[in-house]
Amino acid sequence: MAGDRDYVLGTHEEELARLGLQHRVWRPVVLDCWQKAGITVGKHVLDLGAGPGYATVDLAEIVGPTGQIVALERSKNFIHAMGETCRARSLANVKIRELDLMTDELPKGDYDFAWCRWVLSFVSDPSSLIRKLSGVMPKRSIAIFHEYGHYETWHFLPRLTNQEKFREHVIETWRESGGEPDGAAGLPGLLSTNDFAIRSATPQIFCVRPNDYMWQWPATFIEIYLPRLMEMGRIDQNFADEVRGDLASAEANPNALMITPLVLEIVAEKL
Ligand SMILES: C[S@@+](CC[C@H](N)C(=O)[O-])C[C@H]1O[C@@H](n2cnc3c(N)ncnc32)[C@H](O)[C@@H]1O
Repeated sequence: MAGDRDYVLGTHEEELARLGLQHRVWRPVVLDCWQKAGITVGKHVLDLGAGPGYATVDLAEIVGPTGQIVALERSKNFIHAMGETCRARSLANVKIRELDLMTDELPKGDYDFAWCRWVLSFVSDPSSLIRKLSGVMPKRSIAIFHEYGHYETWHFLPRLTNQEKFREHVIETWRESGGEPDGAAGLPGLLSTNDFAIRSATPQIFCVRPNDYMWQWPATFIEIYLPRLMEMGRIDQNFADEVRGDLASAEANPNALMITPLVLEIVAEKL
């Protein structure tokens, strides 16, 4: 299971659940984006790096039986989970393809849209992915990206020094695994050289309080990634406890604020 072993965030049950929470937190933003971009009944959508398929399933329900979603994913664990969900919901319009976006060709299809969220940060060569995407997207089809644009925006107010150190460990470990956290940063150039025209670019960044649902998104990431950093030998138990303690104090302070990592929403048309 090379894909499962190599992926820096892991594909274990806790990560599967975290991705579900992350999707539910982001769902209103995502549904609004898809609707504005024109995803509707009967459309065909290519879902790149679909994970366990949380967005895939929403897309499948939106496009309905006359539409189709082609979901591409490398992890066997995530592919299995996605298949189970589709069966449980009797979704016959999802085609799941186990492949590696770096080493395999993308399946050709009459796609109206492509959806790519939090994938560019984890692939070794985003330029190759955008080149392949350009090769399979028909003229006038639309590619939609939700990718980090400036991960260092993520911090708390009052500031938490340990969380900022944690954030730096995150950035460094993603880079060590061959990715680049700010996956959206290279997109304007890559889209230009691969026959895409940017139709809109929207920063998605939030300032949230402990009782906001969105607070749970970065908070659960901290909980999941601390043991991962310990396994990698980057931090010790003491540092992990300090980060957890600081997060708990912020959660107990109704005046605490968290600025989320900036996600860039980019909608581009294939020329
Ligand atoms: C942070 S998850 C995001 C999943 C999904 N797009 C979402 O928004 O919930 C990143 C996904 O990209 C997949 N991935 C990373 N590198 C890949 C590659 N080279 N080929 C295929 N999938 C890859 C991972 O297995 C994981 O499912």
